[in-house]
Amino acid sequence: PPLNRILSLADMEDVAKQVLSYRAWAYYSSAADDEISLQENARAFQRFFFKARVMRPVSHCDSSTRILGFETTLPIFVCGSALAKLGHPLGEINITKGCAPPKIIQMVSSNASLSYAEIAAASTPSQTLFFQLYKHKDDAIALKRIREIEQLGYKAIFLTVDAVVPSNRERDVRSPWVLDDQETGIKVYNEGEGAADTTDAVLGVAGALIVNDDRDMTWEKTIPWLRSVTKLPIVIKGIQCVQDAILAAEAKVDGILLSNHGGRQLEYSLPPLEVLYRLRTQQPQIFDKMEVYLDGGVRRGTDVVKALCLGAKAVGLGRPFLYAQSAYGEVGVRKIISILEREIVTTMRLMGVSNIGELTPDMVERVDWQPV
Ligand code: FNR
Repeated sequence: PPLNRILSLADMEDVAKQVLSYRAWAYYSSAADDEISLQENARAFQRFFFKARVMRPVSHCDSSTRILGFETTLPIFVCGSALAKLGHPLGEINITKGCAPPKIIQMVSSNASLSYAEIAAASTPSQTLFFQLYKHKDDAIALKRIREIEQLGYKAIFLTVDAVVPSNRERDVRSPWVLDDQETGIKVYNEGEGAADTTDAVLGVAGALIVNDDRDMTWEKTIPWLRSVTKLPIVIKGIQCVQDAILAAEAKVDGILLSNHGGRQLEYSLPPLEVLYRLRTQQPQIFDKMEVYLDGGVRRGTDVVKALCLGAKAVGLGRPFLYAQSAYGEVGVRKIISILEREIVTTMRLMGVSNIGELTPDMVERVDWQPV
């Protein structure tokens, strides 16, 4: 369909489902086991309702903010997701180019299907790129990757901690494929012995990608090590409970990304929005110590605004960017950003809010019923 018929992120997902190969759709859309966390990530947003204020001036409405000090026109960012080339020959570069004019920050996956240099080269000088780190079990190899992305100008490290082992993603496993295959020309970084072998019928794509990663990371060892080797801001991606948020604050990281990997890792991991709500209720002071973000199931401007009311500095989206670039390339990416912008600004105005700083916890209410 022509791009002007795409009115929502759900419309974009429908188009992606039609154009993607079966295996690409399986890899992008799948999640762990019975995909309960995947569904609940989205459903959690339906339990939070707004308490809008009226009779407030909103003709001027500013949706811009900062993430780790870096400017963004909207309180959203692209979450690092592997293998964009599975969906479109230009892969991650579609996302980089689509984010440039609207000034949206892209987090690039350790398992990107283009080199970190190619992606950086596609960005404009005023654009900000973050890097998602899967830490290799060999510190020296991990360090090599960190040095590379520092030199390329990536501005922050998001250390993923919720994927120490592969989960069970049955739709992915049922459609095995070979990483270096002719059809896609995909080549992923996978240094070290025992490099990715995606022909393993049990691991699936997901498992093969993280086979050399560090399974023994700890607060005591890994964070001080990371701090000692880099000056870049450090964000922990994959915090799933209040207790670990406290430990992250004590470890003095720059931020945490509340995430269950889009429901792709631990099945029955709480929806990140519920974790954010608990953090806001039980540990309100933590939001002054570091930035808190959320990802998982964000598909509407209202979702974004709800998370911001509860204290998130910004929210990440994973699948929507993969789907948009698969369906329409760079312009698809720009399209979903403009849809989200309209939805976010409309929501803010209808809530009587004219800038991000005015979004506060008393503007949302958690209800104990779920709309049908
Ligand atoms: C991911 N995600 C992910 N996370 C990460 O830290 N490194 C990675 O390489 C990947 N790869 C990846 C591939 C695909 C196909 C998906 C869908 C997701 C997780 C991602 O960063 C993010 O946490 C979720 O995608 C957020 O949920 P939504 O927005 O997809 O619902």
